[in-house]
Amino acid sequence: MHSSGSPSPSAPLPSPDKQRQSIGIFDSGVGGLTVVSAVHRLLPREDIIYFGDTGRVPYGNKSPEMIIQYSLQISRFLISQGVKAVVVACNTATAHALSSLRASLSVPVMGVVVPGVEAALSATRNGRVGIIGTYGTIQSGAYQKALLARRPDVQLTAIPTPLLVPLIEEDWLTHAATHLVLAEYLSPIQAARCDSLVLACTHYPLAKGVIGSIMGEDVTLVDSADNMARDLARRLETDNLLRPAEDIHTGRIRLHVSDLPTQFATLARRFLGVRVGAIDKVVLD
Ligand code: DGL
Repeated sequence: MHSSGSPSPSAPLPSPDKQRQSIGIFDSGVGGLTVVSAVHRLLPREDIIYFGDTGRVPYGNKSPEMIIQYSLQISRFLISQGVKAVVVACNTATAHALSSLRASLSVPVMGVVVPGVEAALSATRNGRVGIIGTYGTIQSGAYQKALLARRPDVQLTAIPTPLLVPLIEEDWLTHAATHLVLAEYLSPIQAARCDSLVLACTHYPLAKGVIGSIMGEDVTLVDSADNMARDLARRLETDNLLRPAEDIHTGRIRLHVSDLPTQFATLARRFLGVRVGAIDKVVLD
């Protein structure tokens, strides 16, 4: 089966029906909705099918084998819904499972690491880059490897920041406790005089305000959601997979989850930035 992050040069032109298919996006839970929101803003005519693995979140502290298994299962569900591309809107899943997904799926599969890495390298002026993410993402070394492969002289400070996801889900964005936790986490990045900081977790764009207030305005915060959306748009255009230009259509967002916790709709609204419609609970095979 063909598939990869880069387009196949000899691929036949996709039919309009193919171009009208949805974009599949998944994450361990609600965080990937920051990517959905960025994709919807940039490609407002595209339909999106989202899967949040709310029954098995968090991924950040699970083994690579488990993350690969979950990611394959979710991608197969998205393919069964007829998606034209799969976006792994989870840094932990991208770090562990992207190559396995590309090896077994026949549609383009995009992850959040490369767009973030490229944005960080264009932002840095002094070659000192900070990275914050879950234990899984930081320990996988995926960001570090991708940054060093492109620019071997870059100086990296990578810090796992596991307490951030629960604080953001609690909506404690302006709480003194969040400021205290972040000040502690970010101090090695400040000490290393990094001038760009990769927010290597789907939740973190929501905490940009407090992170920015600690790091100061001279440090560029690299938001994986916006960069992912731009990368996806470029890839769909290259592969002729964008919805036909003549279609008058407002993209629909369909949400699926593996469990429906009480607060999910409220949380989803906060992450997506708009009110969410029906949320379907799906039992994966
Ligand atoms: N979505 C995950 C990520 O971007 C964070 C939440 C989790 O640990 O599952 O790494």
